[in-house]
Amino acid sequence: MKIGVIGGGQLGRMLALAGTPLGMNFAFLDPAADACAASLGEHLLAGYADQDALRQLANDVDLVTFEFESVPAETVAFLSQFVPVYPSAEGLRIARDRLFEKSMFRDLGIPTPAFADILSQQDLEAAVASIGLPAVLKTRTLGYDGKGQKVLRQPQDVAGTFAELGSVPCLLEGFVPFTGEVSLVAVRARDGETRFYPLVHNTHVDGILRLSVASAAHPLQSLAEDYVGRVLKQLDYVGVMAFEFFEVDGGLKANEIAPRVHNSGHWTIEGAECSQ
Ligand SMILES: Nc1ncnc2c1ncn2[C@@H]1O[C@H](COP(=O)(O)OP(=O)(O)OP(=O)(O)O)[C@@H](O)[C@H]1O
Ligand SMILES: [Mg+2]
Repeated sequence: MKIGVIGGGQLGRMLALAGTPLGMNFAFLDPAADACAASLGEHLLAGYADQDALRQLANDVDLVTFEFESVPAETVAFLSQFVPVYPSAEGLRIARDRLFEKSMFRDLGIPTPAFADILSQQDLEAAVASIGLPAVLKTRTLGYDGKGQKVLRQPQDVAGTFAELGSVPCLLEGFVPFTGEVSLVAVRARDGETRFYPLVHNTHVDGILRLSVASAAHPLQSLAEDYVGRVLKQLDYVGVMAFEFFEVDGGLKANEIAPRVHNSGHWTIEGAECSQ
């Protein structure tokens, strides 16, 4: 099988290192000449909106996936006309926008922090009045490693914060007094078969994930599998998904999903029979 990957960064490189022993071949589309995955497959040196290059990729591979979720929606829509793309455009649309993500959790009965859609400073002030402080204001899209978010602790933290995050659509979330953070990496096949890796306990420093420890038998494993399974089914998801949770009051609150392999799953490279 030949797999096309949008993006040729570190996660793409690890995908190829895991897939090659399984008999898979790879082609990467990445505009960077020094894309670090390029040595492990073919490299199409082109932009993500380059339709000639996308068509060439689609003609050359059996399916396409991506290694970062800010791949333009138009790129996925264009490719989907010619070749299967996994995870689907719909999974990507939801996972890249914190409002869609948290609305889906709520609709599926998965506990998640209180949240409100924020399109202006007035919206922010109204939401702070109903959700209360502390709270976290996050840009709806493009955040990673804690970038694009601000914790609001005191009433005086609220003024000017919408502009500080760039006056872009945001989400205000109630601050969760969590006792821990855990993530579950799941994989669902085209026929619906679903497998879960053990729950991983994550420690962040300055917003960046520093330590992930996998549990042999975490007491919240089956609850996490139940929640993640609901999302996989709802999206008719195909591929690897990572789901981040807050551990609170002996239960779980959903934080976010990543529609791809994830840094909290890097332990699977040596720690599992099959790397994520
Ligand atoms: N509602 C919240 N309550 C308490 N802490 C939070 C909340 N939201 C986020 N945090 C803290 O900030 C961290 C980063 O938040 P989040 O996962 O939403 O952003 P991100 O930038 O996408 O992060 P990453 O790329 O590391 O996954 C969380 O792991 C958690 O430690
Ligand atoms: Mg996160």
